[in-house]
Amino acid sequence: MTTLAVSRTRATTAAGIGAVLFALSTGAGAEGFNIGAYQCGEECHQPEFEIWEASPHQASFYKFDAPSDELQEKMDAILAAVGDEYMSDSETCTTCHFTLVQEEEGEIPWVDSGPSCESCHGAGSEHQPVHSEKERDYDERMAEAESLGMIRPHMKFAIAENCNGCHAMARDEVDGDTISSLLDAGHPINPDFELVQYSQGSVKHRFYPPDTSVNADMTEPELANLYVQGQAAALVAATASLDKSGHADYQAAMQQRIDTARAALAGVPGADAFLADPTASNAQSLIDALDGQDLTGAVGDRLPSPDSYIQTE
Ligand code: HEC
Ligand code: HEC
Ligand code: HEC
Repeated sequence: MTTLAVSRTRATTAAGIGAVLFALSTGAGAEGFNIGAYQCGEECHQPEFEIWEASPHQASFYKFDAPSDELQEKMDAILAAVGDEYMSDSETCTTCHFTLVQEEEGEIPWVDSGPSCESCHGAGSEHQPVHSEKERDYDERMAEAESLGMIRPHMKFAIAENCNGCHAMARDEVDGDTISSLLDAGHPINPDFELVQYSQGSVKHRFYPPDTSVNADMTEPELANLYVQGQAAALVAATASLDKSGHADYQAAMQQRIDTARAALAGVPGADAFLADPTASNAQSLIDALDGQDLTGAVGDRLPSPDSYIQTE
């Protein structure tokens, strides 16, 4: 089912990851397709693009494109476990490690980069043209873009759901048997992913008005709110995924995430209903109810220290 050809990717000229085109069994669906970080960054979002290019997500693309011998060995073992030969060619790996991009509906997607804008903000083919209609009222076109699948910056929980999809192996595309095979072959699973620590280091891009030249730090109340949303998303993902794979490492990691999130959310005003039934819709109700509240009193002393924010290696 695989088609190999040379792509016109701008991401890399090396003969590795970026130089492979391949077909997927799943075509572009109603949710549209990715247009790629280079489209987002070329004319408009340069500051965010520069941050992303230097982030661990794009660094990992280069890492896997030119792996050390040790990394190559790890990759080969994991690939063998799912019956594939190249990461850029493996539907399993591309789900989390790369951004598959196309220019038109129905076109065969190519590996354009590591996880990128659309991995977090939603595939752009449908929403990008609408969000860019600059002659229109801002709020109106953004609301329409949101209805077309754009995950906007204020939608922290929805973004966190995407982080967890990859970082907690919670994505629907990855079934339990695949998770078990990956873990058996030495794929890492990180029970300690926490949104503030992982998003406020070199992943952070916050070029908001009034001074859009500054990548601003969050205030304490903003950090506290983000922390709560991240823990809520972690609890939802880990609870929903717990039964996905019976693999002991996976079970242990998910149970650790559940315990951590429950401790993190203890005492958050109004959290009891969500903690009793940790679904995404209950999380969203909690988050809506907490909107505008200062949660530093409830969780301020649980926030990770800025020294621990993760920077690109
Ligand atoms: C569900 C998402 C997901 C899938 C599917 C996935 N990975 Fe990963 N992979 C990650 C994440 C996230 C990390 C970073 C480690 C962590 O935080 O768990 C990672 C880390 C790795 C590492 C460790 C890198 C290092 O520097 O030590 C290797 C090797 C790897 N993946 C290979 C693969 C291969 C090969 C495939 C396909 C067969 C694959 N992964 C499929 C999400 C995924
Ligand atoms: C790992 C996930 C992730 C990736 C990758 C990512 N974003 Fe974001 N983005 C976020 C989050 C989270 C916020 C919310 C920031 C906040 O309000 O604290 C955000 C905020 C934004 C904002 C509003 C803040 C600002 O800087 O103006 C824009 C615009 C944006 N992203 C565009 C992009 C573009 C363009 C790319 C790719 C070049 C990108 N993002 C890649 C997660 C991501
Ligand atoms: C499409 C899948 C995907 C999404 C969505 C995603 N990541 Fe990642 N992330 C990865 C992969 C893959 C790596 C790199 C693994 C490697 O290099 O070994 C990574 C690496 C990282 C790293 C470097 C440390 C580490 O664990 O390797 C940070 C920090 C990070 N991601 C934060 C985030 C945050 C915060 C979000 C959401 C706002 C997010 N990621 C969303 C797949 C994803």
